[in-house]
Amino acid sequence: MPETLWRASLVLALYRNRHVAQARYLQLATIRGDGRPANRTLVFRGFLGETDAITVVTDMRTAKVREVEATPWVEACWYFPMTREQFRLGGRARVVREDAGDEADRQARRDAWRALSDATRQSFTWPMPGAPRDPAVPFVAATPDPEAPPADFGLIVLEPVEVDHLELDGNPQNRWIFRRDADGRWTGREVNP
Ligand SMILES: Cc1cc2nc3c(=O)[nH]c(=O)nc-3n(C[C@H](O)[C@H](O)[C@H](O)COP(=O)(O)O)c2cc1C
Repeated sequence: MPETLWRASLVLALYRNRHVAQARYLQLATIRGDGRPANRTLVFRGFLGETDAITVVTDMRTAKVREVEATPWVEACWYFPMTREQFRLGGRARVVREDAGDEADRQARRDAWRALSDATRQSFTWPMPGAPRDPAVPFVAATPDPEAPPADFGLIVLEPVEVDHLELDGNPQNRWIFRRDADGRWTGREVNP
């Protein structure tokens, strides 16, 4: 079995579900400061270059940023409706903020900002996420420069170390578990669904 077959399977799932907008939404679970889980939907923004790492973007002011920075262990759960398959990607995440991280991460952050729509870029100028809604505070602001990500724009990079791939089609269903060892080598095995 090829070492990183899960990545090829994920790329194939993205391709086969390319006409379904929801197929680019994944759920990312983090751990709150009090040990309870938190989970939310995010848009997949691509792999980090040719690596296995998954990228998403977020507002630096949101809770997930604090949670990832305090406890990097996360799990993403991703369902592809056309092909009826699920990927659970567990691993460590890091937040790429302004003026921090290595150059590849910083370039990925700039590229991700540039690739957003104007409407999404504008959402980073909105008032504090999660704060009480104040009708007096306006939401409309100038459209941000696509070449200049603001400080509130963050890229989250998830480096999976365990991937659980379940295909519902088939009787019985098919399931594989892939693990990455300390040297970065992936091994996978087929398991009962
Ligand atoms: C379909 C969908 C896509 C979303 N995509 C993103 C996203 O890419 N980035 C993001 O930060 N929040 C996204 N959100 C909002 C998050 O689910 C969440 O409400 C918000 O980020 C605050 O989460 P937090 O307080 O746990 O950090 C999306 C919500 C939905 C329903």
